[in-house]
Amino acid sequence: MIERVDSGIRGLDTIMYGGFLRGAVTILEGEPGTGKTTVGLQFLAEGAIRSGEAGIFITFEQLPEQIYADAASFGWDLRALETRNLIRIVSMEPDVLFEQMRQPGGLFERLTNQLNCRRIVIDSISLFRVSADPEQARASVYTIRNILRKLNLTSLLIREYSGYESQYAPFENNVCDGIIRLSLQPHMEKYRKRTIEVLKMRGTRIMEGEHHFTFTREGIHVIPALSMAEEKMISATADMLTTGIEGLDELLGGGLPRGSVFMIDTNSKANHRYLVMSMFVERLKAGDHTVSLMTSSSTIQGMTEISNLFGVSLEDAIRSKQSFFIEHYRKPVPEGFETSILNVGGLEGEEYEAAFEEWFRPIFLHGKEKGKGWFFYFDVNTVVSERGKAFVLRFYADIAVKCRMAGITVVAHANFTELGAETSSFLERSSDGVIRTWVDGKYQYLQVTKSPTGRMSAPRIIENVDARPFIRLV
Ligand SMILES: Nc1ncnc2c1ncn2[C@@H]1O[C@H](COP(=O)(O)OP(=O)(O)OP(=O)(O)O)[C@@H](O)[C@H]1O
Ligand SMILES: [Mg+2]
Repeated sequence: MIERVDSGIRGLDTIMYGGFLRGAVTILEGEPGTGKTTVGLQFLAEGAIRSGEAGIFITFEQLPEQIYADAASFGWDLRALETRNLIRIVSMEPDVLFEQMRQPGGLFERLTNQLNCRRIVIDSISLFRVSADPEQARASVYTIRNILRKLNLTSLLIREYSGYESQYAPFENNVCDGIIRLSLQPHMEKYRKRTIEVLKMRGTRIMEGEHHFTFTREGIHVIPALSMAEEKMISATADMLTTGIEGLDELLGGGLPRGSVFMIDTNSKANHRYLVMSMFVERLKAGDHTVSLMTSSSTIQGMTEISNLFGVSLEDAIRSKQSFFIEHYRKPVPEGFETSILNVGGLEGEEYEAAFEEWFRPIFLHGKEKGKGWFFYFDVNTVVSERGKAFVLRFYADIAVKCRMAGITVVAHANFTELGAETSSFLERSSDGVIRTWVDGKYQYLQVTKSPTGRMSAPRIIENVDARPFIRLV
C-alpha cells in the first residue's frame, strides 16, 4: 500500500479517502482570491506541526513578510517553524529556481536534503512558464515533475485558473498526479460559496463534485458533501456491527452499519441500559475503541459492573486505552483512569467546543486507519441540560457528519418527548437510524422507526431473560 500524507486541511482527506499519496505532484488551481496560497501554507504548516514533516514554500510573487503575516492570521507561526527547520519560505525568480532544480546536487537538492524535506508548495507555476515555446514549456514542467518525484516530495503546484483558458486543457494536467480546483461562486442570490473539487487524483478514489469550504481561525475547513450515493454505500458495503441482541440485528438488516449514526429514543419508563450496554460490550469484544459521554447519574464504576455482568472487563479496556470517557460532572475517578477521561465540566462556550474538537481531531483524522473502529455513545439529554438545545442541534449535526466520514459508529440516546417535536425531528433527520423503545402497560416495546435501508420495523416486545444480554426481542 502506498503511504498517505495528511493534507492538513480538515475534510480534504475525507474527499480523497485518506490524503495525498506520498510523492504525488498535485496542481492546485483557482481564480484569484480563491484560497490557493492559504491551502498551500496550511498543507506545510500542519504537516510540520502535526506530522513533523519539513516543507518548503517557494513564492515568486510575494515577499516572505507577507506570507508570515498571512499565516499568522491562521495561527501558524512560520518563523518558529523555520527555527526548528520544519519550514523554509523561499522567494526567488522562476528561472533561477528552474536552473537550481535542474542541477543534480544543486541548491534545490541540497536544501531539500538539509531539511529532510517531505512537502513542497510552488506559488505559482503560472509564472513558471520559462519559455514562450509550448514544446519547451512542456518539457520544463515535465522536468520539474520528475525532480519532485525523484526527491519523493509530496507537492502542490499552484496555478492561476480562469474559466476561459480551461477550453484548452493545460499540458501540466497530464503529467501531474492530481488536480484540485478552488472556486468562489454565487450562491442563493445574495451569497457566495467557496468550493473545492478534486478533479483528478491518481491512485485513490475521490468523492466527486464540489464540496463547500470555509475560512476558520485554524485555516481552511472543507465540509464533505453527503451525496445520496455515499449514503447508500454505507449500507451496501459497510461491515455490520452486531448489537448482541437476539432479534434486533435482524430488524436492522444485519446490525449497525459501521460509520452510521443511530439514535435511541426512550421514554422515561423504558429501560435502555441493557440495549446500550449490549452494543457497547460487543464493540469491546470486537476490539474497537469506545468513547462514552457520561450522564449525571452514570459512573465508570457502574459501567464496569454491568460490563462484568456481560463478561467483559471494562477496567482492562480502560487501562489498555481502548475505552475513553467524556465527563461533565465531578465524580470520584478510580485511580489510573484520569488520563482516559476528558473533563469538560468547567468549560464555557468556545473553550468547550475547542476541547471536544482538539480531543476528537486525531480520531476523526485517523479513526479509520488504525485498523480498529471507534464507537461513540452519548446522551443527548445530558448535553442539552449542560449546553442548551440550540447548541445540541449544531453539535449533533456536526458530530454526525464527521463521525460518518471517519467511519465512527455513533449511538446517541435521547428522550424525544422531553426534547419536543422540533428538536427531535431535527435529530431524527440527522441520524441514519432511529430505534425507539417505550413502555405501554406492562410491556416494553422496541421498533426501528428509521434505518439506513429505509425500512421501518413492526413493534416488538422486549423480553427480559436471565442470560446475557438479558433482553431479547419477541
Ligand atoms: N480568515 C479569513 N476569512 C475569510 N476570508 C478570508 C480569510 N483569509 C483569507 N480570506 C479570503 O481569501 C482570499 C485570499 O486567500 P489566498 O491568498 O489564499 O487566495 P489565493 O487564491 O492565493 O489568491 P491570489 O490569487 O490572490 O494569490 C482573501 O482575498 C480573502 O477574501
Ligand atoms: Mg496566492
